[in-house]
Amino acid sequence: MEFLLDPDVTFLNHGSYGACPEPVFARYQELQRELERNPVEFLARRFDELTAEARAALATFVGARAEDLVFVPNATAGLNAVIRSLRLEPGDEVLTTRHEYGAVTRTWEFAGAKLVYAEPEELAVAIGPRTRAVSVSQITSPTALVLPVEEICAAAREAGVLSIVDGAHVPGQLPLDLARLGADVYAGNCHKWLCAPKGSAFLWARPEHQGWIDPLVVSWGFDEGFVRRHVGRARATRPRRSPSARRSRRTAASTSSAAAGSPPPSTTACRPSGRRPRHRCGRPRWTRPIRRRCSGGSTTSTGSRS
Ligand SMILES: Cc1ncc(COP(=O)(O)O)c(C=O)c1O
Repeated sequence: MEFLLDPDVTFLNHGSYGACPEPVFARYQELQRELERNPVEFLARRFDELTAEARAALATFVGARAEDLVFVPNATAGLNAVIRSLRLEPGDEVLTTRHEYGAVTRTWEFAGAKLVYAEPEELAVAIGPRTRAVSVSQITSPTALVLPVEEICAAAREAGVLSIVDGAHVPGQLPLDLARLGADVYAGNCHKWLCAPKGSAFLWARPEHQGWIDPLVVSWGFDEGFVRRHVGRARATRPRRSPSARRSRRTAASTSSAAAGSPPPSTTACRPSGRRPRHRCGRPRWTRPIRRRCSGGSTTSTGSRS
């Protein structure tokens, strides 16, 4: 396959930034030119259809449903969205290894996690009563190990703990079947070993976790489900709606954005019943506990101060 690489360079490091094959780059340039010929037509009218097609192709490749997968600029951005949406409480522990990527470890520290380290083969038994999430790479960055993520995710599920898998190096290196892997959340890069243009990555989440994962940028589509919520682009032109259609949309939006901002529901679909560790309020431990809200007159139903 032809690459655009400098012939004097022996390029082996697709793990930092993958080089893009010439035909892929040509198609990417073609699309960029098409965009520049008529930006509004491309971004406001064709974007959804084009990205839906790309998501469907990627979903097939990684063994997922297209609606459970969103494009993000890189794996770090996808994992940031997840980690920062968790809103950890003081003392919440995150079980991980010493083989993780520094940017992800820093994100956990930024989010206030108490990181607890275990050897990869001991992760499954190291889940403790304060563990809120298990965070591991499928292929580790500093040591190039392939971790047994299926087993780790199964143990996390059994304990009622969220499993977050960093698959930055996986697409293009290992076959991936997200439907079978057992993770709750998975982020992967296409611009490393899959040699896609830079800025191609994805975040995948089980349906029951999609509602609480906020995008890093809140924009149009925030109240329109997982895929649109994470697109974060300006929708320049849409046909104007009638006042009554706008009113009913506003009502629908306030209902669904309340759901979007809430912690994950307690589902029995993905957790073994009966043994799930729970907060005192009854919610599973990987969610935020329900706090008693002020019932006085200072807080309105939308949370704004009166
Ligand atoms: C394990 C792991 N996770 C995440 C990343 C971050 O990838 P990106 O820079 O595309 O966000 C890397 C980068 O090499 C990595 O090795």
